[in-house]
Amino acid sequence: MADIRAVEWTGDGLRLIDQTALPGRVVPLDVRDVDGLVDAIVRLAVRGAPALGVAGAFGVAVAMRQAAAEGWDDATLEAAITRVREARPTAVNLAAGVDRVRPLVAEGLDAVVAEARALLEEDVRGNRAIGAHGADWLLDRVGDRPLRVLTHCNTGALATAGWGTALGIVRELHARDRLEVVYADETRPLLQGSRLTAWELEQAGIPYLVQADGAAAGTVLRGLVDVAVIGADRVAANGDTANKVGSVGVALACAAAGIPFVVAAPWSTVDLATPDGAAIPIEERAADEVLAWGGAPVAPPGARAFNPAFDVTPARLVTALVTETGVLEVSAGTTPDRPAP
Ligand code: MRU
Repeated sequence: MADIRAVEWTGDGLRLIDQTALPGRVVPLDVRDVDGLVDAIVRLAVRGAPALGVAGAFGVAVAMRQAAAEGWDDATLEAAITRVREARPTAVNLAAGVDRVRPLVAEGLDAVVAEARALLEEDVRGNRAIGAHGADWLLDRVGDRPLRVLTHCNTGALATAGWGTALGIVRELHARDRLEVVYADETRPLLQGSRLTAWELEQAGIPYLVQADGAAAGTVLRGLVDVAVIGADRVAANGDTANKVGSVGVALACAAAGIPFVVAAPWSTVDLATPDGAAIPIEERAADEVLAWGGAPVAPPGARAFNPAFDVTPARLVTALVTETGVLEVSAGTTPDRPAP
């Protein structure tokens, strides 16, 4: 696998890959101030729940360095950290990453950077464990034959600090020679599937097909896939799962076809303080993401858009939640009602 590092600490700032330039170019993006980080998060230069968590944690360090350079008082620093925390609302990892290191601000920059690094390393290890648990469960449940897997959005190295969550399971199946093909939903409107997932699969030499989002339900009902595996931005206490818009349609199709719909996410994405899906804040993004393409309009002047970035799949449609500690069979009644050991 190519060494893809979506989020790195360089010693004097954050280095990201500007994911808006992919798949055409791999453009590093050095972030040295809070405005730059908030901008990178809002325009999805860095994205994906676990990667946002790590970026948020290091973002506190970015704010502290800027505070020292510009002579901020404590209130200004706190306000800047809050801006990072709230740059996007749905993925709980962003706020959780900031909250994890925030209590260490008083201890100084080194303490904050060390804790952010610990979070990054946990994500790397957690990704591997998710891949192994998910592959074991799938091969046990679906059969010991090469699997045809549908996925939505991007859950790979670009979305995490490691090799991915749902895409980590795909990588593990491929490594065990138990993967036939991946159907990658293009993932409108910003094409994380065709731009990012397909790019990662290409790098990894994993067979894949990019399909329009509108093809996904038909692909499932025609029996062309054995399982759908997706990631999550937030899993509520009752197992309801927010993920990229379009996920719930895939879940409904899987339920109708009688195949598993599997969510892969680290425990840092499980939010026991959010009781159910109705309480998950769903980001609504700019209309022009839907009404224009490459700057050219694709709808008549005056058209209005509804552009939720995420949807919520009810727990009853989630067959399994794969975390770094194992597999919860959610629709069978095992909800994530306990913290990670
Ligand atoms: O808007 P994005 O690209 O940040 O949305 C990302 C997703 O929905 C991913 O599926 C989710 O964050 C899981 S990433 C391992």
